Amino acid sequence: MKVDLTTRIKGLTFKNPITVASGTFGTTDEYGRYVDYKKLGAIITKTITVKPREGNPMPRICETTAGMLNAIGLQNKGLEDFIIHKIPYFKKIGTPLIVSVAGETVQEFAELARVFEKHRDVVSALEVNLSCPNVEAGGVNFMKKQERILEAIKAVRQRTSLTVFAKLSPELGDVLEIAGKVLGEGADGISVTNTLRGMAVDIDSRRSKLAKDFGGLSGPAIKPVALRYVYQVKKEFKVPVIASGGISDVDDALEFLIVGADLLAVGTANFVEPRATLEILEGIKRFCAKQGIKKLDELRGSYRPCGDSKKGCHR
Ligand SMILES: Cc1cc2nc3c(=O)[nH]c(=O)nc-3n(C[C@H](O)[C@H](O)[C@H](O)COP(=O)(O)O)c2cc1C
Repeated sequence: MKVDLTTRIKGLTFKNPITVASGTFGTTDEYGRYVDYKKLGAIITKTITVKPREGNPMPRICETTAGMLNAIGLQNKGLEDFIIHKIPYFKKIGTPLIVSVAGETVQEFAELARVFEKHRDVVSALEVNLSCPNVEAGGVNFMKKQERILEAIKAVRQRTSLTVFAKLSPELGDVLEIAGKVLGEGADGISVTNTLRGMAVDIDSRRSKLAKDFGGLSGPAIKPVALRYVYQVKKEFKVPVIASGGISDVDDALEFLIVGADLLAVGTANFVEPRATLEILEGIKRFCAKQGIKKLDELRGSYRPCGDSKKGCHR
């Protein structure tokens, strides 16, 4: 049975909901040996900043129970390099491209939006990474942090008519509250969740396993939290949502679809199994065919909430 996996978001059409989480799929063709990029619904790039960034010192990743910590620090070659060397590559591939951007200042967010607006022929949408180092900088109080996030989204919105996703994590504060505010500033959709800060200690040296005290936790360990955010954001705001957080196999992907996710960004799983994206895609097709689901939209958002019944969910 042929299953229609088409996913539509604000005038954009994706042939299926499978994409890759920013920073977990190389910068251009690194996964080309394993994955035909043309089969993906969309590609989300590593976060691009205006200036090149070296990132944090090594070691900057380590495995944890059911996941990993990373403190990469947004290493990338900067905006100019992306425009000159990466845009032509993605133009050839033709798969919808979502560019992840982060500024160190509100002006830089604005600049990134202004420049990518000129590349609408290749770029479908922007994912604004709001967990960037300077937005989180020490000494900035909670309210100030939120103010900057909102200024960043507002600046992006003013410079581009591309679809804009705000990428959030609980590290920024209450996800639902911030989601409401960034949507109020003109974001079209929400991407949840970025990593959750954690730490890992080497018991012999008594030092961090990373070259920094903390890193971002990702992988299966954060999936239930991510699933809850996707569900709540969809329920509360009914806007497009890119889901990431421990999507590792077809069952994970189906759970996120059932609570309403529009796009499914596979992240840490790419390091475990480089073909994870396409395996998940095939699994979704099989599941739908077996269940007689002709269109993915029949499944998307079909979660049956428990409600307030005193009898509980399963009666
Ligand atoms: C090594 C690594 C690098 C990452 N780099 C970025 C990044 O540059 N920008 C960003 O928005 N998120 C970045 N993330 C977060 C992922 O895009 C994703 O939101 C998060 O890891 C949760 O998904 P997962 O559990 O499937 O990995 C990175 C994650 C990892 C593991």
